[in-house]
Amino acid sequence: MKGVILAGGRGTRLKPFTKIINKHLLPVGPFPMVYWSILKLRETGITDILILTNKEHLSSFICLFADGQELQVNISYKVQEAAKGIADGIAYAKSFVKDEKFIAILADNIFEESLVPYIQNYYKQKKGARVLLKKVLNPSRYGIAILDEQINSIQSIMEKPQKTNSQYCVTGIYMFDNQVFDFIDAISPSERGELEITDVNNLYIKEKQLQYDVLKGWWVDAGTHESLYQANTFVYKRLEENLFKKGEKSE
Ligand code: DAU
Repeated sequence: MKGVILAGGRGTRLKPFTKIINKHLLPVGPFPMVYWSILKLRETGITDILILTNKEHLSSFICLFADGQELQVNISYKVQEAAKGIADGIAYAKSFVKDEKFIAILADNIFEESLVPYIQNYYKQKKGARVLLKKVLNPSRYGIAILDEQINSIQSIMEKPQKTNSQYCVTGIYMFDNQVFDFIDAISPSERGELEITDVNNLYIKEKQLQYDVLKGWWVDAGTHESLYQANTFVYKRLEENLFKKGEKSE
């Protein structure tokens, strides 16, 4: 399986940093944010990775990773012409993934736990797509899944609902088969002018082909000042715990 990392967009919620730097190059712990997506994919054995970003920032990513050798992965790059949405971004990966299943990950999403068991579940899934959910306190910021938990099924997904009874956020990791490209072709831009990933996932639901798991560890969408701070707090806490375990903590 291959991996696609979405690192485009405008990052408006992280201004003024994002007037001069791509959001995904801001620090989370000791690394630029986008490192975490690469490390998470690598841990699952995925080493063929496409990074999608915008024209202004492409050279920074190439300067950082080159062909990926230093991180023991193979990285290639594509430019998204304009920030027309996550689904628009994924469409650029068609020639890279060809007919294979693949994992798309939003580079501002930081996951605590290993993705290995979830990706293994997707390997076992014959067709369709799979998403990872996490309960959140502020559903109006995310894509929210309405579940029928008795039959382990997602009934629908609403993008940033003002009112909902569900707290299950669809996190920014998507496991897709190649039907995704037909579904992207079938959707139209939303009111905010973007091709929404939620509309794509709702087409999978219509075909009864969207499955899910619920994440156990913490997860952060580091796309705002508060959540970037939270991501750094979580990551440093985790690093410190590991150093304590190894007895390497300095005074
Ligand atoms: O983090 C999870 C949430 O991410 C989901 O629950 C939502 O359903 C999904 O729409 C998305 O919501 P956001 O409002 O956080 O999306 P944002 O516009 O911040 O884009 C997320 C990442 O996707 C961003 O870090 C860069 C990438 N992106 C975004 C756009 C709009 C692109 O690469 N190209 C784009 O055109």
